Amino acid sequence: MTRVITYGTYDLLHQGHVNLLRRAKELGDYLIVGVTSDSFDRGRGKLNVRNNVLERVEAVRRTGYADEIIIEDYLGQKIDDIQKYDVDIFAIGSDWEGKFDYLNEFCKVVYLPRTQGVSSTMLRAETQEVYKVGIVGSGRIANRFVPESKVVNGIDVTSVYDTNVTNAKEFATKHYVEAYSADFAEFLSTVDAIYIASPHLTHYTYAKAALEAGKHVLCEIPFTLSATEAKELYDYADAHNLVLLEASKTAYCPAFCHITTLVKSGIIGDVIDVKASLSKMVQAPTRELDASQAGGAMNEHAPLPLMSIIKILGTEYKDISFYSKLENGVDVYTRANIIYPHATASVTLGIGVKTEGNMVISGTKGYIYVPAPWWLTSFFEVRYEDQTKNKKYFYSYDGDGLRYEIQEFISMIVNNRRSCYKLRRRESIAIAGIIEKFNKKENYTEI
Ligand code: CTP
Repeated sequence: MTRVITYGTYDLLHQGHVNLLRRAKELGDYLIVGVTSDSFDRGRGKLNVRNNVLERVEAVRRTGYADEIIIEDYLGQKIDDIQKYDVDIFAIGSDWEGKFDYLNEFCKVVYLPRTQGVSSTMLRAETQEVYKVGIVGSGRIANRFVPESKVVNGIDVTSVYDTNVTNAKEFATKHYVEAYSADFAEFLSTVDAIYIASPHLTHYTYAKAALEAGKHVLCEIPFTLSATEAKELYDYADAHNLVLLEASKTAYCPAFCHITTLVKSGIIGDVIDVKASLSKMVQAPTRELDASQAGGAMNEHAPLPLMSIIKILGTEYKDISFYSKLENGVDVYTRANIIYPHATASVTLGIGVKTEGNMVISGTKGYIYVPAPWWLTSFFEVRYEDQTKNKKYFYSYDGDGLRYEIQEFISMIVNNRRSCYKLRRRESIAIAGIIEKFNKKENYTEI
């Protein structure tokens, strides 16, 4: 019996897939089809797949050509599968010509003719509405947004707003953005959604104005500096069926999402402590060191570590205290201790003090260690007393990592989803609430 194996995503199953599966089946007697898992696709940068793995498996099954369907979940799995299933022929479309020659060591490799004129990418593009997004601000983070938006379907950055029109124009020229403006109302009138990447103190006003104009909003961190403002904006978005999302990039990245699901599934037992640290040194003069612009380590760096603590331990902490080292009225270092009924957590943040930027989640059975920079999560290790049980997890954190939040934002608009489990509104409000307590100097000690 000749056993054939082939692989693919098989999103929006089309005639090209059917032809390929038929030709693959004709090469032998038994056809195994490997369908990529959702997380494997995300990990290799395929962020726009429409059908989930169950739908794609079902579509392949319905072609009637597959004798067996397996899930492809990791790099290198093809070699394992070929040996495990005693495969004689590996078949794949001619668009991969030469790319799988390394499998010749294990079985015969056949490149089958690809059907011209159809692909999942094409079908996705045909049925995809493209949303015009305007960027508020033209600074460092805004500059990262445009290239990252290019890898996500359904978004076109069409305009940039900056109070300084020269900066807006330079940004538009540099990134080939068609329009620029220093007039917010005019800017808003041309877009479907905005990404706010302006200084902290402007976030609330821009978000509110955009929502009132019926635009979806993706807002950089810190989202707002008060829980009341955050809640008001979410309530407004909810009442008017608009997407409002905090751009807490780590919350949407695959490795971090995996950490939270592993923790919730009890892999390290009950979580008793979370420690997360983030520091980036800055040199004066800069906005981060300016008290009048809400500078300081807490306003600058707290949102991501607080997000991770709240994702893991929840929003119902019972006590919080802050310890800061100040310079010119700005905290260059802050430690926040957050006490839950059955757990503790701490964040250490610096803009004038350097800390090791790692995260440790400690539980009754083991702990998860995420090395610095933990917020660009690409690797973590689950560790136990018995080190032979330790497990390392590797992920890619593609580009600047903004693509994950952009993908989530567009997917919420496209699929009419107003809430996102990766960062719930109440979690986002709780983060703003903690930053607010700090700025009000509640339980605050200067060191
Ligand atoms: N395939 C084909 N003819 C097409 C499209 C795909 O023969 N017109 C083959 C591929 O070469 C591969 C298999 O179908 O062997 C599964 O491909 P997949 O990547 O899932 O499909 P694409 O349509 O190429 O998807 P995408 O556009 O997302 O890359």
